[in-house]
Amino acid sequence: MGCAVIYVDEKRGRFHLQGRGYSYCLQLDEEGRLLNLHWGGRIPDADLSQLLSFYWEGASFDLRYGRLPLELPTPGAGYYGTGALSAVNPNGDSILCLQYKGYTLTAGKPALPGLPASYVESPDEAQTLTLLLEDELLGLRVRLMYTVFANYDVLARSMAVENAGKAPLELTCMLSASVPLYGCDYDLLHLKGGWGRERAPQRVPLNQAISRVESRRGASGHEQNPFLAVLEKSATEFQGRVWGQTLVYSGSFLAEAAVNNFGHTRLSIGLHPDMCHWRLAPGESFQTPEALLVYSDQGLNGMSQAFHALIRQRVCRGYWRDRQRPVLINNWEGTYFDFTEEKLLAIAEKARDIGVELFVLDDGWFGKRNTDTCSLGDWVVNLDKLPGGIRGLSEKMHGLGLLFGLWFEPEMVSPDSDLYRAHPDWCLHAKDRVRTQARHQLILDLSRQDVQDYVIQAVASVLERDGVDYVKWDMNRNMTEPFSALLPAEGQLETQHRYMLGLYRVLETLTARFPKVLFESCSGGGGRFDCGLLYYMPQTWTSDDTDANERLQIQYGTSIVYPPAAMGAHVSAVPNHQTGRIASFQMRGNVALAGNFGFELDLTALPQQELDQAKEQVLAIKSLRDTLQKGVFTRLESPFEGNFAAWQFLSQDGADLLFCAYQRLVQPNPLSHRIRLRGLEPEACYRTEDGQSYSGGRLMEVGLPIPLPKEDFSSYILRLHRS
Ligand code: GLA
Repeated sequence: MGCAVIYVDEKRGRFHLQGRGYSYCLQLDEEGRLLNLHWGGRIPDADLSQLLSFYWEGASFDLRYGRLPLELPTPGAGYYGTGALSAVNPNGDSILCLQYKGYTLTAGKPALPGLPASYVESPDEAQTLTLLLEDELLGLRVRLMYTVFANYDVLARSMAVENAGKAPLELTCMLSASVPLYGCDYDLLHLKGGWGRERAPQRVPLNQAISRVESRRGASGHEQNPFLAVLEKSATEFQGRVWGQTLVYSGSFLAEAAVNNFGHTRLSIGLHPDMCHWRLAPGESFQTPEALLVYSDQGLNGMSQAFHALIRQRVCRGYWRDRQRPVLINNWEGTYFDFTEEKLLAIAEKARDIGVELFVLDDGWFGKRNTDTCSLGDWVVNLDKLPGGIRGLSEKMHGLGLLFGLWFEPEMVSPDSDLYRAHPDWCLHAKDRVRTQARHQLILDLSRQDVQDYVIQAVASVLERDGVDYVKWDMNRNMTEPFSALLPAEGQLETQHRYMLGLYRVLETLTARFPKVLFESCSGGGGRFDCGLLYYMPQTWTSDDTDANERLQIQYGTSIVYPPAAMGAHVSAVPNHQTGRIASFQMRGNVALAGNFGFELDLTALPQQELDQAKEQVLAIKSLRDTLQKGVFTRLESPFEGNFAAWQFLSQDGADLLFCAYQRLVQPNPLSHRIRLRGLEPEACYRTEDGQSYSGGRLMEVGLPIPLPKEDFSSYILRLHRS
């Protein structure tokens, strides 16, 4: 375990989770309540109980309860905030009185039943502490699970609730983490957005109020990401204390920063309590999703780098996790629904010639789908468009030396489809109510096992038969009537979470059955960019907005939590289809390289000069892929704050650096502008490809001027190698 360790002193009721760069200190008080005395910088395992007195400063006795830094706040006894756990019992009240009962400390990390979660590959990579609490009156047992990783600066936290009593209970709130922080002089950071402008960082001061970000949509959503951080007011990208939380989950969520009347902050994240109630019969258990907690004293980049490392290596899984991701071409913006096999093959040949490795056939290949008004659910090839079927096309693609990928939207059904005509009750709906359509479609009820099995079979039969190497798994609308024909009235509020469990079962089954297929998730672009889906599919289509200038912001904001290796980024045509803007081919390529690189345009319409540029870009990407996918990514200059954006990738061994700078608009008589690089060895010498050399110290302290051309939306890329 190296320098990460969990200290347990049960006699004094102390649990000290000491990660590589943080401490998370729990203490039982004299009444058996679990208190959180410190989550922040690493401290020695000293007398933690003294920390408690900080919370008492100036308190009169009768106000003490509200000041208690509870690790698991529950309704009753004077706690008035959002509870981390609440349950209605047969008496109709929701009082919980949880007392510590014991602990277990194990090497490694157990899987969470039915849910995606961070994992280890061998027991010596982590230690897991499980604390058992119980409400004896109800027989309600709570297991709080904490994992400290030897190699990652992240704490994983989740909760399991068991009804060991005799009467049924209804769980009405089960958050994954709810952590008190001393003081309130902080800013709050979250990632806001909408379709085509996902994950823009928004930083606001915290006040004595409750600041919430949430999704009730049955998807993590374009609007808010399941992430929240509080920062010291002086914190920047590079320095200062930051506490961040994200959730390994893809459905409705709540994340909250609440400042109470004593000037303390509570940071919470978990299932949205309004969207998930759960009946818990005697003998049953409920497992919450996992929260990932990061403390950094190295500013936002420090927090992001901790998230990136864990997400890339211990949330993402499988064959493609560490493999170089193929450079792809997707036909969506090139042809939309209007394609023939001949057209696709013509694009594919050009793609092969410039070094592309994977051809992805997007929407429109099945049923009678020539518009978005029909056929979702009928995953049978349209032989008018593709006379040789998918198999025929994939053979031709393989013959060209390309991998072959296919778009599906398996969670959906069009009212105009054979599937819907056969099974009108298979979609989410409320009895006798309108079934609201969005993009002319309804959502299949994945809370039902028969529907899950249908989806598994429909996708699997194509993958088995037709030689498919890659799947783009899309999901283009949110839930409006999240209810199920199979659940009783009192279970309807379980539908959303049961849907997510069903989706995870479908994905677990398919990814296990087809381990070498590369899955990329998508949701109207980046409407479901979260750790839950990254567990099954190691890359996500970042946004339907492919404009290079817009992508600077979208990719910059996404990187607050997610690593570049998780982001799909494509060069598309100009004028750009979303904005009408024109950026040079070079700029479009230089923005797309900071993700899983691909093209999304009709290559047969490109002039030779741009095809040559595309070929050069692909060649460069291939030689940089390890650094781009596995290197340490650092944001240097924010496109939200000025005319420039810059970032760098530093290879794992520190020997290769890629510096990328972008200018949005040309300015006359511009101010001088230098950008400082980060994380280099001050004494080492770094050489550019054209033979210039600089010391690491100079690059970090003096910085680099950016020789950007007099052209709107221009870019500058520099490769440096430590000699
Ligand atoms: C969504 C996706 C796009 C494309 C279309 C196809 O909008 O985000 O990339 O696949 O669906 O209908």
